[in-house]
Amino acid sequence: FAVLALWAVLGYLLGSVPFGVLITRALGMGDVRKIGSGNIGATNVLRTGNKGAAFATLVLDGGKGAVAVLIARAMVGEDAAQVAALAAFLGHCYPVWLRFKGGKGVATFLGIVLALSFPLGLAACATWAAVAAVTRWSSMAALLAAGFTPVWAMFLGPGEVIVLTMALAVLIYVRHSANIARLRAGTEPKIGQKG
Ligand code: G3P
Repeated sequence: FAVLALWAVLGYLLGSVPFGVLITRALGMGDVRKIGSGNIGATNVLRTGNKGAAFATLVLDGGKGAVAVLIARAMVGEDAAQVAALAAFLGHCYPVWLRFKGGKGVATFLGIVLALSFPLGLAACATWAAVAAVTRWSSMAALLAAGFTPVWAMFLGPGEVIVLTMALAVLIYVRHSANIARLRAGTEPKIGQKG
């Protein structure tokens, strides 16, 4: 139990590194939380017009989730990997450094799922990309990718991640409540639009 608790803490700390804020600040672009949706994720960093910064945010926010899972698995095993996954996701969404006002967890979710199971992660990324290509809404792509991942897990496996991916999907829906309201109102900006 102590080992799992340790991975909850380490996963949380890894997940809580707010790369969107750090990258935009380092590039002298100001505070990403003051523009667009106010979110710290890659979609909102893209609203600054800096595609490189948005891409770096996507890769690093995804990477921290993947790294948490891979290290926990290598050092302890599959249970610790799942604990680290959930903790890293919560760290991204509720980072102590930003007074618990973090991101929506999409990139971190994709990184986590890729590390839990590479084929399942590819299915999640493909779902995101397909919905994004058709609708041009990042939030819609995130909601459908998150919602379908447990379904893909039922078909592709591994069965052990079904419950975890369901929990993460619920959290992603919770974090997207403002986006869902905008989608319903027809006011959600498309990818790259300032909003
Ligand atoms: O990854 C978050 C995305 O789904 C929505 O971001 O900035 O449009 O709220 P944003």
